Amino acid sequence: MRRFVTTILVLSFFFACSTINDLPKHYSINEWKVKKIPSYSQQTGGDAAQGLEYLINGDYIGSGVPLTFYGDRFSVRDTVLNRKGVNANLPYVLTAFTAANGVEVMSGNCFTCHAAAVNGQTILGLGNHLSDYDKNWSQLASLVNLGMKLKYRKDSKEWKAYEDFGHYFKAMAPTIETNQFGVNPAFRLAEACMNYRNPSDLSYQEEPNYEMTAYPIATDVPPLWNVKKKNGLYYNGIGRGDFTKLLFQASVLGISDSTAARHAVQQFKHVLAWLEELEPPRYPFPIDQEKAAKGKIIFEKNCSKCHGTYGEEETYPNKIIALEVIKTDPSYAIYATESGIVDWYNKSWFAQTSPKSFFEPSLGYIAPPLDGIWASAPYLHNGSVPNIYSLLNSSHRPKYWSRNIDQIIYDPINIGWIYNIEKKKKSKTTYDTTLPAYSNRGHYFGDKLSEQARIDLLEYLKTI
Ligand code: HEC
Ligand code: HEC
Repeated sequence: MRRFVTTILVLSFFFACSTINDLPKHYSINEWKVKKIPSYSQQTGGDAAQGLEYLINGDYIGSGVPLTFYGDRFSVRDTVLNRKGVNANLPYVLTAFTAANGVEVMSGNCFTCHAAAVNGQTILGLGNHLSDYDKNWSQLASLVNLGMKLKYRKDSKEWKAYEDFGHYFKAMAPTIETNQFGVNPAFRLAEACMNYRNPSDLSYQEEPNYEMTAYPIATDVPPLWNVKKKNGLYYNGIGRGDFTKLLFQASVLGISDSTAARHAVQQFKHVLAWLEELEPPRYPFPIDQEKAAKGKIIFEKNCSKCHGTYGEEETYPNKIIALEVIKTDPSYAIYATESGIVDWYNKSWFAQTSPKSFFEPSLGYIAPPLDGIWASAPYLHNGSVPNIYSLLNSSHRPKYWSRNIDQIIYDPINIGWIYNIEKKKKSKTTYDTTLPAYSNRGHYFGDKLSEQARIDLLEYLKTI
């Protein structure tokens, strides 16, 4: 309860300040300005092809809705992953697999959130920036549960193969509803599922472990090709230690217990190998090499100390930048430091058994690698800025903006999405930067540059 109250107090303090451009002068929360994330030893020897195979056909969610529940409702050919067998006729975001008791079930897979189209092509590893969590998920969970009860008896093997997923779907449904279109509540999804798991053996328990804050905080989805450069995962660098256990996080939605988890985590060694090989997509339009060469010099002078160097000499410094320095919306970083998930995680199976992963939250954000940055609009951890030009010229950042969600139109001049400026929130898909946690402030490092320097810099960013 104390945690909960502090979170509310701290969040409301920041929300009250969210219209100003800076953190209040008298308020100094960090004694550090920049933290380096140390490297942790990772598992090697995985097989990349086997890793991808597991991600698209594997049983890492553990349980799900029986395929027979849907009848023959799915008959779309999967033209993205070109899967075979039972998955050939499911959309690429869904995977059918055999649950431990032999029943064929279906769940979402990693590419529900980690694949997206840019310039008409679906790219694995690119964050899905168009998912819609701004809807009533509890109603959906109740409907599925009711349908299941009507169709199967509680002692049937179908019900057994669904039961875990049913529990966690119900637990997380009210927590993943957002008040902004396009942002992703994965952190809260994990928080809600772990809340009902016994920390030692991960089995389901009726009583929650901690209290969750009510505010529907959510983020953008980072591109997965950067994992190979990072020492710590997630926007705030909270994910430390062994990556296979961190990668497997989404499985808390349906895996039965630590025995099943141990089995799945072994496969994630191969997933990690796939991520090590995953390359960003190349910029598909012409590049002015002369401008790009000038931009490289500007980048190395103004940006490299945080974002690293690219090309012949690749370096990446793995830095977390304190909120006072980066000045972007602080809510997400604060939220994670106050969440009950941190203590739970660090005393759970994840942190207590080998290979160990753990959570170390910070009041700051990682300066991410910028490989393939041309493809991953919108920008910042909360996806509040639609293109890189306005990231580098803060006076151009729109307060309310929307993009055509049926067909995203790419903007090669400003790098990012073509968008409409709106005077107020006009429709569901308007991005509203006045909402708590979604402010577009901070990262003012491009403001001091001349217009020509920004243009050259943008050209350079297309090359990396
Ligand atoms: C419900 C959507 C969703 C699903 C499903 C999902 N993720 Fe994520 N993932 C996210 C979001 C959102 C983040 C960013 C969270 C943050 O940084 O705080 C993220 C972060 C990550 C990161 C960290 C990247 C970085 O640069 O730090 C990795 C790695 C990752 N996910 C892998 C996976 C894998 C593997 C799966 C499937 C087992 C998966 N995710 C399933 C939404 C999802
Ligand atoms: C003091 C360190 C620092 C400097 C200097 C810096 N950045 Fe950043 N940058 C960050 C951090 C931290 C973030 C993440 C902030 C967030 O998401 O809230 C970021 C985010 C970004 C992003 C968005 C990434 C994404 O995936 O959304 C881009 C693009 C970017 N920076 C480009 C630049 C360029 C170009 C320069 C040089 C003009 C620069 N940065 C200078 C720390 C820095």
